[in-house]
Amino acid sequence: MKKIYIKTWGCQMNEYDSSLISNILKKKLNYKRTNVSEQADILILNTCSIREKAQEKLFHQLGRWKTLKKNKKDLIIAVGGCVATQEKKKIYKRAPLVNIIFGPKTIHRLPKMIEELELKKKKICNVNAKKIKKYSYYKNNITQKISAYISIMEGCNKFCSYCIVPRTRGREINRTPQDILLEANFLAKNGTKEITLLGQNVNSYISKFSNGSICNFSQLIELISNIQDIKRIKFLTSNPMEFTDDLIKIYKNIPKLSNSLHLPVQSGSNKILKKMRRKYTISEYKEIIKKIRKYRPNIYITSDFIVGFPGETHEDFKKTLKLIKDIKFDMSFSFIYSPRPGTPAYRLHDEINLQEKKERLYLLQKKINKNTKFFSQKMIGTYQKVLVEKQIYVNKIKKLCGKTTNNRLVIFEGSKKLIGKCSYIKILQANMQTLQGKYVK
Ligand code: 5AD
Ligand code: SF4
Repeated sequence: MKKIYIKTWGCQMNEYDSSLISNILKKKLNYKRTNVSEQADILILNTCSIREKAQEKLFHQLGRWKTLKKNKKDLIIAVGGCVATQEKKKIYKRAPLVNIIFGPKTIHRLPKMIEELELKKKKICNVNAKKIKKYSYYKNNITQKISAYISIMEGCNKFCSYCIVPRTRGREINRTPQDILLEANFLAKNGTKEITLLGQNVNSYISKFSNGSICNFSQLIELISNIQDIKRIKFLTSNPMEFTDDLIKIYKNIPKLSNSLHLPVQSGSNKILKKMRRKYTISEYKEIIKKIRKYRPNIYITSDFIVGFPGETHEDFKKTLKLIKDIKFDMSFSFIYSPRPGTPAYRLHDEINLQEKKERLYLLQKKINKNTKFFSQKMIGTYQKVLVEKQIYVNKIKKLCGKTTNNRLVIFEGSKKLIGKCSYIKILQANMQTLQGKYVK
């Protein structure tokens, strides 16, 4: 049996794609996934190009794989994901050791590409497809996952001025609700208790039932919440641009919906938001959060931020800090702006020096880390409903871990039988995002 090693970078969509890749190669070519790169017959890199650093990582990794290729002449190296879609054959110029280049939409063609490569001994580049055919392969790997992802849509039509995603993942393509429900039911039957719905813009999800009637994102969540064995629903990533009232209302109607919402704001300044082509204002963003908090007063809000966007003054940055104070963000992913070739912002004059950008990033992260710590410590002494996910070893001692409804990781001692169940845990200690607790019931 041949072996495949996959290295994944980037977002949860890439993680989802990587598991599909291994399912597809297992079904079609009987490959088995390995965690040891030296044992593999094919090495796959599933890449991300959202920031320049992520893109450069690809070539460093390929450099490290050079020796493996020297030692095993017929080793196949394939590069997929967003860098592959963007750079295409250009990758061969910098890294001639690569054999196959594929994109997020062509992973179902990988078996054919491998066969063709073995037959013709010619490099292959196949990154574009009109339809996405990979999804049906979720069935080909039955491993119990307490918490699982389902991709519901792919691509983005928003074209924020800094973002490469619409150019790498393409325009939005939505799966049908029937298809998504089949996958959700399949997972539930195989032990999944928590589903995270994935997409670049999940709240712009729009599709049709087989009878022709429309299904939007809030309806889709409602349908999934009807699956009895699914106890918790999350989604990633949503956008303030289409956070409509029907979606806000499901925070009232669907208790299974997680008590943590990741809603990237990017900046606290309307001027910068406009330059970023994010089509909302700070007061509109605040209004969304206010409405959600009416139904869920304790919801935890997390966000993405970009600092140092061209034209961001001290005043603009202060507005971001003020927003952090007003919303009390629980956590964030925050980045220094990275100019991406091919995006409209790439041409903007970037007058802020790197030291200043680093300083702003540091200040922002310090402020949010303080919130994270504050919220975690506030949980000490409380009883939290934890969905138990797996057994782990902490200092050679077997423990269990799971997540609270506000997405904190909790570690505690308990029987393996609790895996997959919601348990009540008393929180004893808090360390940023990780909590230590004691099993209660
Ligand atoms: N530079 C820095 N950060 C970026 N992001 C997207 N594009 C860029 C860029 N060019 C960030 C945004 C987005 C997250 C996934 O990555 O904050 O929400
Ligand atoms: Fe990129 Fe904006 Fe689309 Fe998000 S909404 S993927 S930031 S273009």
